[in-house]
Amino acid sequence: MSASLDKCFSAGTINGLELRNRVIKAATFEGMCPDGVPSERLFAHHRGVCEGGVAMTTLAYCAVEADGRVKREMMYMHEGIRPQLERLAQEVHGAGSKLSGQMGHCGNFTQNTDFQGKRPLGPSRMLNLGGIPAGIPFAGAMNEGDIDRLVELFRQAARFMKSVGFDAVEIHFGHGYGLSQFISPKTNKRSDRYGGTLINRMRLPLRVLEAVREAVGDEFAILGKMGLTDGAKGGLQQDEAIEVAALLDEGGIDALIPSGGTSSMNPMLLFRGDSIQPSLIEQEKSLLMRIGLRMMGPSMFKDYPYEELYFLDGARRIRDRIRRAKVVYIGGVSTLESIETAMDEFEFIQMGRALWKDPGFVNHAKANPEYVNHCNHCNRCAALIGHPDGVRCVLNEPV
Ligand SMILES: Cc1cc2nc3c(=O)[nH]c(=O)nc-3n(C[C@H](O)[C@H](O)[C@H](O)COP(=O)(O)O)c2cc1C
Repeated sequence: MSASLDKCFSAGTINGLELRNRVIKAATFEGMCPDGVPSERLFAHHRGVCEGGVAMTTLAYCAVEADGRVKREMMYMHEGIRPQLERLAQEVHGAGSKLSGQMGHCGNFTQNTDFQGKRPLGPSRMLNLGGIPAGIPFAGAMNEGDIDRLVELFRQAARFMKSVGFDAVEIHFGHGYGLSQFISPKTNKRSDRYGGTLINRMRLPLRVLEAVREAVGDEFAILGKMGLTDGAKGGLQQDEAIEVAALLDEGGIDALIPSGGTSSMNPMLLFRGDSIQPSLIEQEKSLLMRIGLRMMGPSMFKDYPYEELYFLDGARRIRDRIRRAKVVYIGGVSTLESIETAMDEFEFIQMGRALWKDPGFVNHAKANPEYVNHCNHCNRCAALIGHPDGVRCVLNEPV
């Protein structure tokens, strides 16, 4: 085995959290939470990747309040699901792994039908195009009181997550969700101390990081997923994203996961490979939404051919800019060669689709130097995010 693969399968730490190897299951919203309650299928999924060898799995998406959900079927952090989350933590620990949870808030981007009669809130007023079929086409602007409240929601959620047995939390600063709406100059049009300059746009994300740190204490791992670029005109660009990373580093984040794109404006930048548009249209129940998806097609679902390690350059720039935090490489790791390259330069990797294809990736790769994963980046898994039965890898089904 090469030195880089050896490193991959050797133990590492993030702020004192001991991980048995360098592979973390990425946050991939699984669904499998009917009425917002984690189900047996969700337990089995995470148990499967942990038994398959990953060092840590990430539960997604853990909304910090009911109104922070993109869809009504998502989980939000509250006492009502404590028994299920405690059980999940026990199962993950029983399989020798650690549990992280991706904390987030949808901000102004939601399809949650519970919103009828009120407006989702983000940094500035804007259209909530994805919410049209749910009857919530407009989003309002948060006032200072709303911002203070959001900070407290993250604090409470972090405290709750630690208390049920999570070993780490991952704050979602990217992909067009609430905190990235503040970071992005495209969605943040404020003229107060939360808008304008980068330092102003980072004020809320940094307050959230501070509150989460206060909630979990100094000796608890906090990771952050962030955007390298929104992939949209007028949005966050890479030069500024590098400074976002530097500010989060100074703010005390333990590890950064540089990703890119946004679910609302440019989702394919996140994944690369086959477009998710046809599968989304196929599954969509609302005629209005189907028409919208067709019309938005070329501008929203851009063509980004898949390549391995597609965020390597951006991740390197962040690694070279920050001083304290570790960089967790994400984006197009599905071969042993890619693992070797990433491991030469970074301390950890996160993997999404390759683990949907084969939850046993780590153990299989350890046992077989010729291991091939066979995820073909068809992205049907990603298009199943809204499916009532949750996400699955269609390649694993009999034809
Ligand atoms: C089914 C699916 C669901 C996803 N859900 C999330 C999510 O909830 N939060 C997030 O930050 N990224 C999400 N992603 C993006 C992944 O975390 C990751 O950034 C992306 O798939 C690239 O990594 P990969 O090449 O290893 O798959 C999702 C991806 C997939 C395939």
